[in-house]
Amino acid sequence: MKLSCTFLLGALLLLSACSQPVSIVPEPVKLTLSSGHYTLDSNTTLVFLNVAEDDEIRYYTQDFIFRHLGLSLAISNEQQPNWDTLQIPDAIVFQKNTDENELFGDEGYSLSVSDKTVYIEANTNAGFVYALQTLYQLAPSDVTAKKPASIPLRTATVVDYPRFGWRGNLLDVSRHFFDVEYIKKHLDVLAMYKINKFHWHLTDDHGWRIEIAKYPKLTEIGAWRVDRSTVPWLEGEPPQEGEPATYGGYYTKEQIREIVAYAAQRNIEVIPEIEIPGHCSEILASYPEFACDTFNYYVQIGPYWPPKAIMCGGNDDVIQFFKDIVDEIVELFPSKYIHIGGDEAVKDNWVACAKCQQRIKNLKLANEEELQSWMIREVEKHIHQYGKRIIGWDEILEGGVSSNATIMFWRGWLGDSVIIKAAERGNEIIMTPTNYCYIDYYQADPATEKQKAIGGFLPLQKVYSFDPAYESFPESAIPFIKGGQANLWAEFLFAPENVEYMLLPRLLALSEGLWSPKANKDWEYFVNKLPAQKKRLAALGYNYCDKVALITDEPKQAPAADTEELKTE
Ligand code: ACM
Ligand code: ZN
Repeated sequence: MKLSCTFLLGALLLLSACSQPVSIVPEPVKLTLSSGHYTLDSNTTLVFLNVAEDDEIRYYTQDFIFRHLGLSLAISNEQQPNWDTLQIPDAIVFQKNTDENELFGDEGYSLSVSDKTVYIEANTNAGFVYALQTLYQLAPSDVTAKKPASIPLRTATVVDYPRFGWRGNLLDVSRHFFDVEYIKKHLDVLAMYKINKFHWHLTDDHGWRIEIAKYPKLTEIGAWRVDRSTVPWLEGEPPQEGEPATYGGYYTKEQIREIVAYAAQRNIEVIPEIEIPGHCSEILASYPEFACDTFNYYVQIGPYWPPKAIMCGGNDDVIQFFKDIVDEIVELFPSKYIHIGGDEAVKDNWVACAKCQQRIKNLKLANEEELQSWMIREVEKHIHQYGKRIIGWDEILEGGVSSNATIMFWRGWLGDSVIIKAAERGNEIIMTPTNYCYIDYYQADPATEKQKAIGGFLPLQKVYSFDPAYESFPESAIPFIKGGQANLWAEFLFAPENVEYMLLPRLLALSEGLWSPKANKDWEYFVNKLPAQKKRLAALGYNYCDKVALITDEPKQAPAADTEELKTE
């Protein structure tokens, strides 16, 4: 009886696999489907060619297949170096190129699924990781790890590599804190859609989230705010005298290392962001001596606009503070970049501060914007000593910036000229304009959305239309456009399911804009792929928005987007 049930289940899966349209996101460079299938089951072995015996890609692959498809596959010791003479039936073969295939670059791969075997070729482990993601999407979309049996994989050949090297997502963990378990789940879904940069917004007015040994008050005080989680974000009252600060949290160094390693296995580079010189109420609540004034700063609750807290630019201890933070951060993050913020620093306190004004005078700076630039350059020099580079929000251009800095362009309303000028100076640019990339905006009519958002309107179709290399850019600017990123600020994201709802499926739309060749993008085709993707996401336990909103759906009463007034990040 048991046997016949298993057989029936297998037959049903096979029937459904062959009748289901294949849905791969992001769309590969080249995909050729045929009508057969390869049966993945517990007899399938994993073969790694030109891969060291202790290379962790072996264990990552086993773990991936177990977690997504429920099968524990053995690794065969087959080490035949020449595929032409090799026949390994019933195997998934991973062959690392000894002569680099230029087309594949650092992240590309080819994948061939025949009815007898699966063959994957790549220059790097990153290519293997992405081939696995594509292979998983050739399985029926409702397969889960709980139903291990024989899994029919659609026969296909794929050649695939990315259009842009920077395919990012920012997650704000200051406005709301998300624990290690969720961050890992978040990284998993980024990897599924071939996103390779996780921009971790670790510090802001509403909470400091990273353990720093030299400044323990950052996490003793700065990581905690009074609990206003039972009232809507916009209605939180300031703390009362003596009220305990109980809401928040932070990541220990050990947890950070664990997450960075977890991300690296998935070809994701983690870029930490430490805000300089504004968005720092939580620092000033912990170390009031770094302020220009004697105001009683506290870790912010709810709305805080304009964010007036700013680190004193005339105080040498402040510069040393940031250098000390860098010293501890570089130990944790192998990433080439440290993000130093630089956005929305309201400089009223600097205008009124004798120390700041004295610094401006001594250094013969023109104004407070140049004081910010000077501060950032001081920290940048320190970061360079570690062989790393800075990224800053586009405000860092305002008082002058070195050509080594990477600019993260976010103010969509500024127009192209700012970006073009930065490219002319030689700055790398990452495109995260509000009007295509701010996925904290509403994705459907606010009147019908249960999930509150910061405002704005960014429907799925608009994200899908995003191309970081704007047609209006001159040819000469294009090489400086490194890619793009979806930013998820967390004011209204109280729990992981809120994060997932805002992220999915807009992340899928973004991923096609950053990975797939422009010529392969097709909105109607993408929409047809979504039901299978949603099934897959549901099988993996993710929440998502089920509406497919169009650009033309913009409600008449949509909260104003793309204006400076709207922003509360
Ligand atoms: C930003 O949204 N303030 C970078
Ligand atoms: Zn000052």
